[in-house]
Amino acid sequence: MLSYVKRSKYLLKRVENLYNSIEITDGEKMIQGYGMASGKVILMGEHSVVYGMPAIALPFLDKGVECYVQEYGNGIFLETTYYNGDLDDSPELLWGIKHLIIETLRVLNKEDINLKIIINSRIPAQRGLGSSAAVSVAVVRALFDAFEIKLNDDNLSQLVHIAESIHHTDPSGLDAKTILSGKPIYFKKDTLIEEIEINFDGVMVIADTGVKGQTKQAVQGVKQIKEKNYSMFEETIENIGLLTEETRVALGTNEIEKVGVAMTQTQSLLQKLQVSDHHIEKLVRVAMKYGAEGAKLTGGGKGGCIIALCKDGHTANNVSEKLLQNGAKATWIYDMKEKGMYE
Ligand code: MEV
Repeated sequence: MLSYVKRSKYLLKRVENLYNSIEITDGEKMIQGYGMASGKVILMGEHSVVYGMPAIALPFLDKGVECYVQEYGNGIFLETTYYNGDLDDSPELLWGIKHLIIETLRVLNKEDINLKIIINSRIPAQRGLGSSAAVSVAVVRALFDAFEIKLNDDNLSQLVHIAESIHHTDPSGLDAKTILSGKPIYFKKDTLIEEIEINFDGVMVIADTGVKGQTKQAVQGVKQIKEKNYSMFEETIENIGLLTEETRVALGTNEIEKVGVAMTQTQSLLQKLQVSDHHIEKLVRVAMKYGAEGAKLTGGGKGGCIIALCKDGHTANNVSEKLLQNGAKATWIYDMKEKGMYE
């Protein structure tokens, strides 16, 4: 098992190697930039957060996404796991990033620049772990770094919102704020972001269903439920809001069982909002059967990942093993104190 600290050191070495390999032309400094960002896990409050209810989200403190920018060729060339080629021809999956790059270069007044933008992500895409927001943050940081222009969090948030709005209409901003804060946060759309201290002994298992999550469709589905059955919608999101508030208190008092119960109850409410699916529900059942205190989907749902809260590392390892034996495509253990993840 490679700890997240070891992984971070390994990634840092790779960045150093990359910088060493970039040539300096004619004594002039070549344009080059670097940006990175971590991912996030939503502990409580996905979907209801879009409608003003609170949410709690935690960052991974190891580097999830790294972006390197260097002067290159003619136009903008994108190098990612999914696509290598001109920015103009990038596939729909990357349209959010495409618009973000165009807008960031416009803000920087560098629209005519020739660049290669390399994106390395260790966060699985479309799994509710904040990969799209983390890619956006890393790209903006790298572009500002390349032109040695200071970037404040407000500008960064505004730029990242461009890509997020394309990925799923009307994002709450939770993903980007968690990634930018680097701390566990208690968040309410447009009104409140509080960093929270977590002194909690629980250990969380994150398990990938292997099915791409569909945040945009899930968010739209909830909107339709709101239009068709407002009273059920309102009651459901208010109950998720109450459970999120209870969780916040229980995180501070180290009451693992309470947090677990709130998570499982929230999963039932998310089922009512039709953002769960049978892959998620199977993994939730397996986690509960093998000793988790609570389990639920995390992120947009309709595929993606589940989180299962365990009282200690031993139980978490066991739950993780059982999840892998019962259909999970990958698992990570998230130490809630360290905010680090390992496979
Ligand atoms: C997606 O990670 C979280 C959702 O609540 C959407 C949002 O907050 O914008 C489903």
